[in-house]
Amino acid sequence: MQSSERSLSVWEQTNPQREFPRLTGDVTADVVVVGAGIAGMSVAYHLAKAGQNVVVLDDNAVGGGESGQTTAHLTSAMDDYYQVLEKVHGKDGARIAHDSHQGAIDTIERIVRENAIECDFERVDGYWFLGPDRDVSFLEKERDAATRAGAQGLEIVPRIPIDSWDSGPALRYPNQGQFHLLKYLEGLTTAVQAAGGRVHTGNHVNGVESGARPKVSGDGFSVSAAAVVMCTNSPVHDRVTMHTKQAPYRTFVVAGRIPAGAVPRILFWDTLDPYHYVRTQPVDGDPSSVWLIVGGEDHKTGHHDDAAERYARLEAWTRERFPVRSFELRWSGQVLEPVDYMGFIGRDPTHENVFLATGDSGQGMTHGTIAGMLISDLILGRPNPWEKLYDPSRKTLSLDSAKMFLEENLDVAAKLAELLPLGGEVASGAEIRPGEGAILQRGAKKIAAYRDDSGALHQCSAYCTHLGCVVHWNSEEKSWDCPCHGSRFSPTGELVLNGPAVTGLTRLDAEEG
Ligand code: FES
Repeated sequence: MQSSERSLSVWEQTNPQREFPRLTGDVTADVVVVGAGIAGMSVAYHLAKAGQNVVVLDDNAVGGGESGQTTAHLTSAMDDYYQVLEKVHGKDGARIAHDSHQGAIDTIERIVRENAIECDFERVDGYWFLGPDRDVSFLEKERDAATRAGAQGLEIVPRIPIDSWDSGPALRYPNQGQFHLLKYLEGLTTAVQAAGGRVHTGNHVNGVESGARPKVSGDGFSVSAAAVVMCTNSPVHDRVTMHTKQAPYRTFVVAGRIPAGAVPRILFWDTLDPYHYVRTQPVDGDPSSVWLIVGGEDHKTGHHDDAAERYARLEAWTRERFPVRSFELRWSGQVLEPVDYMGFIGRDPTHENVFLATGDSGQGMTHGTIAGMLISDLILGRPNPWEKLYDPSRKTLSLDSAKMFLEENLDVAAKLAELLPLGGEVASGAEIRPGEGAILQRGAKKIAAYRDDSGALHQCSAYCTHLGCVVHWNSEEKSWDCPCHGSRFSPTGELVLNGPAVTGLTRLDAEEG
């Protein structure tokens, strides 16, 4: 997706994203991958290594979409919990969830070793610790369910090994991992190119044709191939099917430096909903300190415009526990929560020879790596025991998933009701200050109006170009966010920051509202 005015993540600060020559003209390939994040580059890696002629396209830089906003925890401790997965997907499903996520960590380690990628990869322990809403019996149930799913060596410990703060009881998962995402992607990209793959950035795909010989296209380019793989976080080629099965949430991250050794190299998460997630990362060129990276405070995309308060709460939560002098970085990302708690990886249900990966929940790094293994197997005709669990066309019959499906889709219906002319947020454009946006009502229509720093008022139709929900202003990231399926647009409307929309908001003639 296109870049925005957002803050840079710790990865982007230390490792500028990589751009490659834009593709022009019409080319052919065995496989074309759309999206150069962790999922797309992982798919490209496995296929290029297997001798396939692969083309990767992205409208942004490599890792310039949601992957670059990660905190890069590599974990098989499922964030929707094994005790829940067992109920929804059965014991076999929970076992495959464990095998695939643990297998993803192992695969990343192998790729790092085989390609000598310097990305700060290391094995670390992970810990679930209790939020005020749970007691230790929750950890005991999770330990037992995770062990039934195949996790080894789990134990409940009296506290996480941190001196400055007593976490209380925690469930320790050995053999998890962490890395620097953009350094890893740089290594993957080099390996893909060495195997003959072609990587292009600055190519915005707005057409996907399925069939015996599928094809993707955009302004001045096209690629036809035997298979198309859509790794765009939210599928941009699909209007409805997949978007009824998942819901977009924004999550928030703060980072500050602490003395090296003040917090050990571990991952830890509390059991709140939304939960806090914490890790450290070496500071390049400064062995005396490390980044402490703390995330949480999630909300449904487009449902709130209070990011400043959410960052402040994250900083306060962190200061209560750790010796952070100042917070230098803050950023936000989007996660897609699948209604039955497992992501969607595999054949597109309605598009022949199109494959997709979406619904990462909070585990995008392992999920994207699983996509690399699973989709490459499907394309190469190799059996993969994970296919059924992640099948995008699956129907999961459980009360939990049916309830979540209903809640999320009723919520979309409520947001569609905002189409009715109930009034704008401000009476006229004169009330919008430089750098701010607001919805205006003009007759029966809603207008997304943004005043830039020079004082010019930019006006667009406020109806999302995906399925027509009314977008909401995000004052922290200066974007228009759609509350229905997570599309996001630049402040002036014409650029798409997140799918599923593929075209910007419709520009209206300049006119003071
Ligand atoms: Fe679907 Fe906006 S993202 S209507």
